[in-house]
Amino acid sequence: MADALDYARSNTERFREELFDFLRIPSVSARSEHDGDTEKAARWLAERLRAAGLTSEVIETPGHPVVLGEWRDAGPEAPTVLIYGHYDVQPPEPLDLWTSPPFEPTVREGRIYARGSADDKGQLHMHVKALESWLQGAGTLPINVVVVAEGEEEVGSENLAPFVEKYRERLACDAVVISDSAMFDEGLPSLLFSLRGLAYVEVHVRAAKGDLHSGAYGGAVANPAMALARMLATLHDENGRVTIPGFYDQVKEWDADTRSAIAGLPFDEERFRSGVGAPGLTGEAGFSTLERLWIRPTCEVNGLLSGYTGEGAKTVLPAKAMAKVSFRLVPDQDPKRIARLMEDHLRAVKPEGVAVEVVELHGGNPWRADPSGPLFDAAGRALEQAFGATPVLVGEGGSIPIVGDFERILGAPALLVGFALPGCNMHAPDEWFTIDNYDRGIGALVRLYDELGTSLRG
Ligand code: BES
Ligand code: ZN
Repeated sequence: MADALDYARSNTERFREELFDFLRIPSVSARSEHDGDTEKAARWLAERLRAAGLTSEVIETPGHPVVLGEWRDAGPEAPTVLIYGHYDVQPPEPLDLWTSPPFEPTVREGRIYARGSADDKGQLHMHVKALESWLQGAGTLPINVVVVAEGEEEVGSENLAPFVEKYRERLACDAVVISDSAMFDEGLPSLLFSLRGLAYVEVHVRAAKGDLHSGAYGGAVANPAMALARMLATLHDENGRVTIPGFYDQVKEWDADTRSAIAGLPFDEERFRSGVGAPGLTGEAGFSTLERLWIRPTCEVNGLLSGYTGEGAKTVLPAKAMAKVSFRLVPDQDPKRIARLMEDHLRAVKPEGVAVEVVELHGGNPWRADPSGPLFDAAGRALEQAFGATPVLVGEGGSIPIVGDFERILGAPALLVGFALPGCNMHAPDEWFTIDNYDRGIGALVRLYDELGTSLRG
């Protein structure tokens, strides 16, 4: 392992230059005008895997391709680890809020600013460099490795579960390792015990066949904007609970141990509040901020569209209104069921004179880990050595839809070890990742592969 660590240490600058090349490719999966760039990022990654010493292929799917890398020379006794990440990124807009352009990585005060630096190209690249450090520095790896990198995580991973089903034999593994999340705080390495799931719908409300004069028709013809606002206002009660009948039916209560572990984390509520810049915090009554973020389900409006929003006044009765609404889910809520309950609820509360249509966009299952056992122990040792601090177990409010599918289809447990930091602006302008965590994290992954090689050995 010393050779692998030496290799990583003496190549940090080249690694970073190479990461910048990756970050310069605008692989925005949501935008078809970037399809060429997304494809380019896939090919770039496949090439880097080959240079690291793995075999690699770019496998087409009905959407963006999957990059598959393999190295299987550790022998039949050695465990096989599947490393998952995503090479697609969120759209960078609004562009005017970026201090430096999103696809021109720029270093300021030890941070790499670029779309994808944290989510997830930076973290995926760390695995590629940790693999390279082993194979080029030590000439071997203590584990067999399968790398699966997808280009559709940010748009719901719809084609990945079918891919995993189709290639299940080739993807057979003892554990799945993912770096696409954050540490609880700087210098505090973290392992995830949960991810929330997601159900995403669009709500379309319409009345007249076209926009109308609001004086000539207003009062007699329904206003879809008003109707939609009333419907959305029924989604929560005064305690911050979701009112959709049946919404909480599948929610499993969390054990007292997890809740007291959450309460014991060094969380500074005021720092969190001022970090987001809101005048106050709110949420479901009876739960702490971290519990509201990690172990309780939510319903949020993500976007609203209706009527005239340009300069000045326009007296118009809009013909339609639209809202994007998503639910973060916890075990054992089912995304399809939640979308159906939402539709039933909206039909029940729909005011007179409008028609409502609910379109399901995408979903993902929630995930919860069993942190006892060799996988988490091995990761704990690797992180402790690399960061000089005992790792904490944390939940995560965001979603990585494929994690539950990996466990279900491949029958292997997932380990989520992320290196981004709170406030790193994932999905927002000025996304950043620290050079320090990039370098240290590569060392942690080099050690992690070693620990897994020993503790998962059959
Ligand atoms: N890397 C994130 C998940 C995440 C977010 C981890 C915040 C840790 C902190 C992932 O790329 C992501 O953004 N997922 C989407 C999934 C969705 C588009 C299906 C999410 O959570 O919104
Ligand atoms: Zn993301």
